[in-house]
Amino acid sequence: MTEEGSGISSIRRVPQDAGASPAPAFHIIKDVSPLPEVRAQGFLRRMDSFFLTLNRLVKAGLPDALNPFVQMGAVINLTFFIALVSGILLLFWYSPSVNLAWQSLEAMKSSPLAQLMRSLHRYSSDACMLFAVLHGVQTLTSRKFSGPRWLAWVSGLLLIGLMWFDGWLGYWLVWDQEARYVALATTKVLDVLPIFAEPMSRSFLTNESLNSLFFFIVFFVHMLIPLAFGVGLWLHLMRINKSVFFTQKPLTIAITVALVLVSLLVPAVSGEPADMLALPESMSADWFYLMPIGIADRLSAGALWLLGLVVTAIVFSVPWTMVRRNKEPAVVNEKRCNGCTQCFQDCPYNAITMMPREGRSPLVSRIDAAKCVACGVCTGSCDSVSIRLPELPAEDVRAWLNARLERAGSDGEKPWIAFVCAESAGADLRVNPDDTCDELPGYLVRPVPCVGWLHPLLIERAIRRGAAGAVLVGCGPDPVCRLGTLWTEQRLEG
Ligand code: HEM
Ligand code: SF4
Ligand code: SF4
Repeated sequence: MTEEGSGISSIRRVPQDAGASPAPAFHIIKDVSPLPEVRAQGFLRRMDSFFLTLNRLVKAGLPDALNPFVQMGAVINLTFFIALVSGILLLFWYSPSVNLAWQSLEAMKSSPLAQLMRSLHRYSSDACMLFAVLHGVQTLTSRKFSGPRWLAWVSGLLLIGLMWFDGWLGYWLVWDQEARYVALATTKVLDVLPIFAEPMSRSFLTNESLNSLFFFIVFFVHMLIPLAFGVGLWLHLMRINKSVFFTQKPLTIAITVALVLVSLLVPAVSGEPADMLALPESMSADWFYLMPIGIADRLSAGALWLLGLVVTAIVFSVPWTMVRRNKEPAVVNEKRCNGCTQCFQDCPYNAITMMPREGRSPLVSRIDAAKCVACGVCTGSCDSVSIRLPELPAEDVRAWLNARLERAGSDGEKPWIAFVCAESAGADLRVNPDDTCDELPGYLVRPVPCVGWLHPLLIERAIRRGAAGAVLVGCGPDPVCRLGTLWTEQRLEG
């Protein structure tokens, strides 16, 4: 059943038989959210509001240019870059030999620059892991892991895995007592695989049996992983249009200065030199990377493999196991499209290609359903109304506007229209069946998947038909549909 007189069929669910099942007292606004329905939605949303509150607090005290929450991916890139540069510079002082590594690091204490590079390398790696975990958790709580975003999710996990493994190997290279545990845990796990003729752990039974070649291989892999990280990052961002890749200058300076200060105040040091025959009396491990040491000591190699595989399967399968329903992608009406390319430039997820064609225009827009997250930003781009978002077709909203404004006009009222983002700003608003909202008195409320869905002509139309005006309520600083809020501001400014 559609709402009487409005012609709305897909905006919201209305009971089939109002007699048998009474109409709800209000509608939950997030029905047209661009995000899918997922399992544990309520829990994830509550967790997300924690991040939003944190972000609001940071925002109250800091300008956006200094706010890491609005550029988290870029912060990871920056800290990774600092780790990379300091790591390369460390090669001037470090000896990648099992017999000389520890001494070469100790010798750095007498060179302030070497010591600074070493500390910077350690703390930037820690910061990189910390921000990557935060970014991953925020992605989970904001439910940005479904549909076409699976690639960013899976590659993000690969990146975090690579980063962790590189840090793990990095601690091996110090060749102190911590490194000894790293080596023993690694060989314990590797020895289960039938790839080595001799169990690897035998090389670590005594100080004399240590294998120099193996140590050098660890060093070599530690150097190579950043290259794989580059490939992973390319995969991670290939579906992101205009990604926020670099931090803004003030934040770049703030993070670099903070890392230098921490490095000067708490210089990174090694533990006692590795001794295969003596257990350390105490150990202060870096838990950003070395947490598995504690587990490796307690579990058998088989149990470690099982645990690793189960955890990996659970986190990697999130885009499929957690999602109940994905949203339908947008569709282009090729007959109407005039090939202006605006939607192609605006799509935040690189889902649109301009294809050559004969006839009406040399180009026509084509949407790749496998990449479209159904944000609707392209419908707001298209002056010729050639793109339809099945979740919220523009013609339904036009019909709704006509009906509502006609009714209000006949009562002598001039209502304001509030177009609110269904996912963030308006997610908790409760809209009455007549589209008024107790929290926004005086407004008729229309949820939209993203304010970017809205074409400025629709606002003009509302005003022409008797609305007093329109208010657009978009997302916060990390918009659900990325560029939607920005494009809307620019479109309205003309
Ligand atoms: C470890 C290193 C990582 C780096 C350097 C990184 C970097 C980035 C960057 C620069 C963006 C673009 C942000 C924007 O412009 O809107 C992004 C987006 C994204 N990242 Fe990561 N990320 C990393 C890890 C992860 C992890 C661990 C996950 C989740 C498991 C993840 C999931 C995502 C998703 C789903 C998006 C797309 C968000 C959207 O659709 O709006 N990333 N990442
Ligand atoms: S802008 Fe359009 S094509 Fe691009 S992801 Fe959003 S709805 Fe899909
Ligand atoms: S904005 Fe509209 S008219 Fe322009 S290319 Fe895209 S679909 Fe075609």
